[in-house]
Formats: sequence, structure tokens, C-alpha cells
Amino acid sequence: MMYKGVIETYRKYLPVTENTPIITFFEGNTPLIFSRHLSDETKCQVYLKFEGANPTGSFKDRGMTLAISKAVEAKKKAVICASTGNTSASAAAYAAQAGLDCIVIIPEGKIALGKLAQALMHGAKVFEVAGNFDQALDLVRKLGEKYPVEIVNSINPYRIEGQKTGAFEICDQLQAVPDYHLIPVGNAGNITAYWKGYKEYYDRKQISKLPKMTGFQAKGAAPIVLGHIVEKPETIATAIRIGNPASWKQAEAAAADSGGSISIVTDEEIIAAYNLIASKTGVFCEPASAASVAGLLKRVKEGKIADGSLIVCILTGHGLKDPDTAVKNCTTKTVKLPCKLEAVVRELGY
Ligand code: F0G
Repeated sequence: MMYKGVIETYRKYLPVTENTPIITFFEGNTPLIFSRHLSDETKCQVYLKFEGANPTGSFKDRGMTLAISKAVEAKKKAVICASTGNTSASAAAYAAQAGLDCIVIIPEGKIALGKLAQALMHGAKVFEVAGNFDQALDLVRKLGEKYPVEIVNSINPYRIEGQKTGAFEICDQLQAVPDYHLIPVGNAGNITAYWKGYKEYYDRKQISKLPKMTGFQAKGAAPIVLGHIVEKPETIATAIRIGNPASWKQAEAAAADSGGSISIVTDEEIIAAYNLIASKTGVFCEPASAASVAGLLKRVKEGKIADGSLIVCILTGHGLKDPDTAVKNCTTKTVKLPCKLEAVVRELGY
């Protein structure tokens, strides 16, 4: 049977009716990739859930299919979001299919080029503001209160509903429940959504245990770990450059209720993991995504994860979104040569 996207696949777990028009690019059903290298290195069984394989290249599509479908059902004409890039790319694409106007507010100069290109190509109105994501989200909240625009950030509950399907999918693909679910945390919607998904599957007797929700924030943007708002968040992982997450409390609850944790990884650890995943497993994710694997390596080193544990790391977005960061921070470099056979042969050492 042809795969029909997350709403059709998990319809009975989602707030849709026969009257809901389904706006979809057949998102979800992303690969769960066993990493031999990471498994050997950690003495665990490590799987990478590659959300970069979604139609717009990030996990946002799972929530956006529902948020946009519900906006159309409610006869909305325009949607709006603040974004570090991926939400805007996804919102713009789904809005284009639905024929809705899309307004995007992004922090100037802090969006990976691929993401900006997506929002522009899909015809969104893109406003670059001299502020960070948190300030952009404040603007969006105010605009949403006063004007006829539907907010499609993860403060829209349909976003969380759609994204919880990631948890269902992992359990269905593994035919088991991970001991640890590792995930980058930015605005904290995704950890909230996954925890909701696991709990619902548990309540509906689809699974018989729950994973430990284990989140990671970048060192310069770690408000939840520090316990206070970070006014000027900074990290190379621009997707999670957030100082005041909207789902802060829910993320804390997910970690606490599951016996998990939220902790810090440095930019250096993120970049090392980013290179490692691409070169040793063949999966190219974006820097923010690599926070989950950086966190895995760190927790294992600290002795916090027992040998043999079943691990799922969420790789939230595709590496091609941000080629600048890749080329700049890659451990492999190009070698410039004259266009001559001898030169190539000599360089190869044959
Ligand atoms: N990874 C990537 C690639 C992201 O784009 C984001 C968030 C996260 C992780 C963190 O997820 O916010 O649910 O905790 N990106 C948002 C955006 C903020 O605007 O694209 P979260």
C-alpha cells in the first residue's frame, strides 16, 4: 500500500475528522538507521532516526502537516511563524500547497542559507529582524493575538500532536522501546511531542515501557540546564540558538517524569559528532542534530548509560541545509591540483 503521510498513518491518534482537508507531502516514515560505528564505540545498540529525510529536510514536517491542515479546516488565510530556519522552510512549503499566505520572522544573519532559500522559494514573506529567535517569537505571539494570522510555531498544539508521531514510528520500526531517547532541545517542542507520543502509545497498550527522555542544549544556549533565560544565546548550531524556550516546563517534565535528563554539549562536541556521523555512518545531518550524538558520547564517557542499552538519537535535520558550516568545519579538506593525470596519481600515492 502506498505510504500516505503521518496523518493517515496515525489518524486514530490525531485530532482530525473526515472534514479535515489533509495537506501533506507524505512526511514521516523516515529511516531508523543502525550505526555499527557508534554501537561499537559506546557498547550500546545505537539507532539514528534520520528526520532530515522528511520532505523539507527536517522533523518540522510532522507537525506542519497537521497545523496547516487544521488552519485550512478553520478557513484561515495566512500563517505566521518565528524561526531559526526549519520551521519557516516547512511552514512555507505546506502553506504553498494549501494556498495560504505565509509570514516568517527570522533573526537576521543567523539562518542557514538552505533554510532561507526554502522559505523564499516557497513564496513566504520573509522578515529578517535585528533580534534573536526569542524576540521574533514574541513578535509572532503579539501579531497572532491581534491579526488574522494563525501561528504555526510549536505553541500551536497541532504541531506537537503531529510531531508525537515520531515516537509511534520509532516503536513500530524497532518493535521495541528504546531505553534512552536522545534529542537536541531548542524551543523544546520536539522533546515535549516525543514524550507525549510515547505516553500515548503506552496508555493505549501499544508498548509496555517508556524511554528515558535525554535532551541536549548547546553550551551557549542552555537556559533549561542553567535554570534561567539566556538573553544572548550563541552556538554554531543556529537551529537551537534559543534562550527562552516556549515549552520549557514541558521539557523539564518530560526529563523528570521519564527518569531522563537535559544537559549541555559544547560547540566543539557538536562539531566532532557532526563530522563523525557523516564520515563513519554516512548520514549527513545539520549541526543542531548532532547534539544528540554528541550527548550520547558524553553520557557514555561519564558512565551514565549502561552497556547494551538500546539507544535512539534523533537527527532532526539534513546537513545540506547548512553547507557553509559543513565546508568550514569539516575535518576533510579539498586538495587543489593541476588538471594532470600524474598529479592525481602522485597525490594518491599509487
Ligand atoms: N534540531 C533542528 C534541526 C531544529 O531546527 C530545531 C528547532 C531543533 C533541533 C530543536 O527542536 O525547538 O522542538 O526543541 N528549530 C526551530 C525552528 C526552533 O524554528 O526551525 P525544538
